[in-house]
Amino acid sequence: MIVLDKENRIFTIHTLNTTYQIKADQYNVLLHTYYGPRIEDCDLSCLIQCGNRSFSPNPNEAGRSRDYSLDIMPQEYSTCGVGDFRLPSIEMELPNGSHTADLRYVDFRLEKGKYMLEGLPGFYSVKDEAETLIIFLRDAAAQVVVKLYYGVFESLDLITRAVQVVNQGTETVRLCRCASLCLDFLRSDLDMITFNGHHLMERCLDRGALRPGIQSVGSVRGTSSHQHNPFVMLCDRDADEDAGICYGAMLLYSGNFEAAVECSQYENSRLIMGIHPYHFCWTLEPGESFTAPEAAMVCSPNGFGEMSRQFHRAIRSNLIRDPYAGRRKPILVNNWEATYFDFTADKLVDIAREAAALGIEMFVMDDGWFGLRNDDNSGLGDWQVNTEKLPGGLEALVPRIKDLGMKFGIWMEPEMVNEDSDLYRAHPDWILHIPGRFPARGRGQLVLDFSRKDVRDYIYSQLREVLSSTDISYIKWDMNRSLTDVWSEALPARRQGEVYHRYVLGVYDMLERLRRDYPNILIEGCCGGGGRFDGGMLYYTPQIWCSDDSDAIDRLRIQYGTSFCYPVCTMGAHVSAVPNEQNGRITPLKTRGITAMSGAFGYEMDLGKCTEAEKTEIRQQVENYKEYYDLIHYGDYYRLSSPFQDNAYTAWEQVSADRRKVLVNVVLGCTHAASPFRTLRLKGLDSGLLYQVDQTGTVHSGKELMKAGYPLPQIQGDYPSFQFYLKVVE
Ligand code: DGJ
Repeated sequence: MIVLDKENRIFTIHTLNTTYQIKADQYNVLLHTYYGPRIEDCDLSCLIQCGNRSFSPNPNEAGRSRDYSLDIMPQEYSTCGVGDFRLPSIEMELPNGSHTADLRYVDFRLEKGKYMLEGLPGFYSVKDEAETLIIFLRDAAAQVVVKLYYGVFESLDLITRAVQVVNQGTETVRLCRCASLCLDFLRSDLDMITFNGHHLMERCLDRGALRPGIQSVGSVRGTSSHQHNPFVMLCDRDADEDAGICYGAMLLYSGNFEAAVECSQYENSRLIMGIHPYHFCWTLEPGESFTAPEAAMVCSPNGFGEMSRQFHRAIRSNLIRDPYAGRRKPILVNNWEATYFDFTADKLVDIAREAAALGIEMFVMDDGWFGLRNDDNSGLGDWQVNTEKLPGGLEALVPRIKDLGMKFGIWMEPEMVNEDSDLYRAHPDWILHIPGRFPARGRGQLVLDFSRKDVRDYIYSQLREVLSSTDISYIKWDMNRSLTDVWSEALPARRQGEVYHRYVLGVYDMLERLRRDYPNILIEGCCGGGGRFDGGMLYYTPQIWCSDDSDAIDRLRIQYGTSFCYPVCTMGAHVSAVPNEQNGRITPLKTRGITAMSGAFGYEMDLGKCTEAEKTEIRQQVENYKEYYDLIHYGDYYRLSSPFQDNAYTAWEQVSADRRKVLVNVVLGCTHAASPFRTLRLKGLDSGLLYQVDQTGTVHSGKELMKAGYPLPQIQGDYPSFQFYLKVVE
């Protein structure tokens, strides 16, 4: 709900549990007065104190008064060069060479429903559940208008933000920075939580107290990256899963980003999130505009768990566009770890046959089916079937898979090209490269210039030929290197600072075309695993391969960190063979199954190599996943312990909306002889109801399970695990 106080120029956004407030002051400066737990009918500008502070300049209109400074007051969208020395949201190079932005409030507009940004991802409203507030700011000297967009999803406790900059003048303006979100706090006693890692270990949680100065994470790799995720949190110093105020902010963007917090001299803090300013410079000719990608915020007064569940609900219902919405997605088997590049049609059909016999429903053919792709040095760009490997092409292979009762999925890496490919030989100028330099290779490949429509059109026509040749139900859209040599043949020198962003827009354009032309195909995003696991991609690809690390114990950390923002239905997770291909660890099949089941579930192994006992177990896992699917995918997710803090076990839980069904998952760490007896306290149950544990038949009250806990069995061996299903008994 958006409440307007026109007289005092106060804009108050209420969601179910939170309040967000903005006020235009006497100098038309747009102040941020509050974001936090819901407060009714209030003007929270009384919280803002300002007084004479040396070295904090006063705007010209303040005359001789020294009591007002932009440097001290909380800004809704911070400016630069005119008195606020903290992190700027916007930076422009004006025709006279100055780098300033002085934005003042002009007007506002309210709209029913949620705004959408052309060519960019965003949360959408399904019915009339959202409202839009647009606030217009203007830099009078520069003749630039900045529109601040707010999408309000009241019942989801979610507020989205976006920004559009319009050059209304008669001369060229160059935009050097344009954040999507600026969030000021009148305090700095906060912890910052970020999700960091590397290829094979993404989104590990890191928490630390804000310190004076700027703390930031970001990416200049052209993707959102394995290294840092465009989702960050700020919280009370003592906040935990169940208590304390915490703020989560996600950027719906898949390229270079920056998330920075500045803790300022007077112990205020400011979070800025948006496209990374490195090599970003957008030329705005008169009349042109630039739109920054969307950001989304949740504030939970009750700890991390509640914040995560809000994001999960919103992403499930109002961000992803899943062709299987309301239906169960097929369980898949992928041949990558089973064969790598070394396969024949018969081998693939063998893997599929074994999988079909165990109840698996889709076969995904990974890398190596096209061009002369027998290793990772050649073939990318030549999206024609390698008929030496697959005689008769897909037209021959796919019916054999379908005869097994399975759907067929295929791997692609459309953004890339190998030098050893017909495409590169024909169009060496189609790659990102800088004249006079030899481009860096990554995994032996170069990056196609997806900022160019002609390049995209050609690749799209190739993909269409593949997709139209047979019945394909799924695409794994992969991307296996970071961007370097970012320069485009198609743009003049003064526009080269647009290439990184135009590249991302190009990827979104291709994915949107696929969605439009093949609405029933499920697209899984991938970037060497989770190198582009972000809200932007989720708008186009409702699930993303979470990591190339398929080891169940490493996955506990990766999926734990991922769960702070992203729901389990978005996390591609597969059971793979042991010893694990990435770290050599041997884990029980049961543990691999339980871990992968909290995700978009599948197998990544040659099931023909399994023993009969293992096959029986896999058949059971498949059955369990089908049975628990709704609970896992649509239930509320509770983290019961942290794999980073608790060596004894990692536990998590899914609870149905009516709190009558519960799935408890526990994976033990290193086992020890005569280890302590432990109990696990559950969360999110109804304390007044009685729950029966399926596996043991015992009955316990919700209160008992939440307050006293449930005794964990003692099991021997490496990394054992258990899963309990609880349902209400009358
Ligand atoms: C990286 C992906 O993450 C893997 O799953 C696999 O598809 C390979 N690429 C194939 O090259």
